Amino acid sequence: MSDRTRAAAVLAECQLLATMTEEPGRTTRRFLTPPVAQVHAYLRRRMEELGMAVSIDAVGNLRGCLQSDASMQKRLVIGSHIDTVPDAGAFDGVLGVVLALHLAAEARASSLPLAIEVVAFSEEEGVRFGVPFLGSRAMAGRFDPALLALTDAEGISVGQAIANFGLNSGLNLALNSGPGIGAIEEAIVGEDAIGFFEIHIEQGPVLEAEGLSVAVVTAIVGQTRCKFSFQGRANHAGTTPMHLRQDAMTTAAEWILAVEALANKTDGLVATVGRIVAQPNAGNVIAANVRVSLDLRHARDFVREEAIDTLTRQAEAIAARRGVRCEARRLLEQVAVPMDEEMTALLAESVAAAGFAERHMTSGAGHDAMVMATRLPTAMLFLRSPGGVSHHPDETVLEADVEAALKIGGLFLRRLCARSDWKR
Ligand code: HGY
Ligand code: MN
Ligand code: MN
Repeated sequence: MSDRTRAAAVLAECQLLATMTEEPGRTTRRFLTPPVAQVHAYLRRRMEELGMAVSIDAVGNLRGCLQSDASMQKRLVIGSHIDTVPDAGAFDGVLGVVLALHLAAEARASSLPLAIEVVAFSEEEGVRFGVPFLGSRAMAGRFDPALLALTDAEGISVGQAIANFGLNSGLNLALNSGPGIGAIEEAIVGEDAIGFFEIHIEQGPVLEAEGLSVAVVTAIVGQTRCKFSFQGRANHAGTTPMHLRQDAMTTAAEWILAVEALANKTDGLVATVGRIVAQPNAGNVIAANVRVSLDLRHARDFVREEAIDTLTRQAEAIAARRGVRCEARRLLEQVAVPMDEEMTALLAESVAAAGFAERHMTSGAGHDAMVMATRLPTAMLFLRSPGGVSHHPDETVLEADVEAALKIGGLFLRRLCARSDWKR
């Protein structure tokens, strides 16, 4: 099959997987919700057709291992995530899994002396439980058991969600609420793995603006995710004079603008309040309680840490002035992560050898690669995002760029095989 035909097949598969959703008419697929079982069934069939040994680990990562020759000692892990944000596009995460399957097929057809493990991570976005990377944390041996107790909007815990999905392997928790820690430790990637490779859409405007198909990722920016709660006092919207209010909504609103102002004046800082929940959420009642999310990112950790301290102080000062209480809760502290230099150099060589411009860039989006990089040499390839759009149904990718990724990925595998002295 030509690279162009394979690229068309990749796009069609991603579009098909996008129909497996919690919400008919739009793509929403959170951690271990029912449509994940449909995606697993499809990917399992594809993996088994490739002759892979298929398993689902204790946190729901679907893993297919192609080891056509027992003497093969070295294994490359390739993959990305299959969970999505609400009303997502068809390519964020899934494209990397489908491309991994096609690269595994190429490795098998060319009898490359390299075992391939394709992984579909169960949870990268952090939508259902507020904390991202549950799947890759388990695979990288960084899964904190306390994560099992996190609950979603329906009060279901991570452990219960795992058990509800039928993955209660190795139960040894009193609450029967999901996998035992032993089972989660079994998810850790094997000692024979030489590295992790993730292909992902850029999700931003840079490659399109420069007319480039691909980029080699050099580092992934650090991110902080928090929840800020403003506790005021509900009262009647009609009878309460403005100067006698403890209004949680206007407090949050003033602070949200302060967040934007700080990001606008701090070079390289991006800050987003993407979620707000107000109680009692009635038009004629002054808001008693408002909870907002904060997503803060920067390539340099000290700038991000300084910004979060500033914004916490500002939240407390604005709340105090308005007679409102404020509470901040950290959900994620993820340091900036460099990609592996040697592996990235091989990937860059492969880009050039395939005839594409060698563009290096940092990633503003978080990826499983930043977690896997704490355990394995890791490299990441970006594909252009037409319109610079992502986390949106208009998210797309060009067939020619998918074809480029297949070509580059094939050359990259061959270069990895040629290097037998991988450090581990
Ligand atoms: O939010 C992110 O950075 C990624 O898309 N999960
Ligand atoms: Mn992603
Ligand atoms: Mn995403």
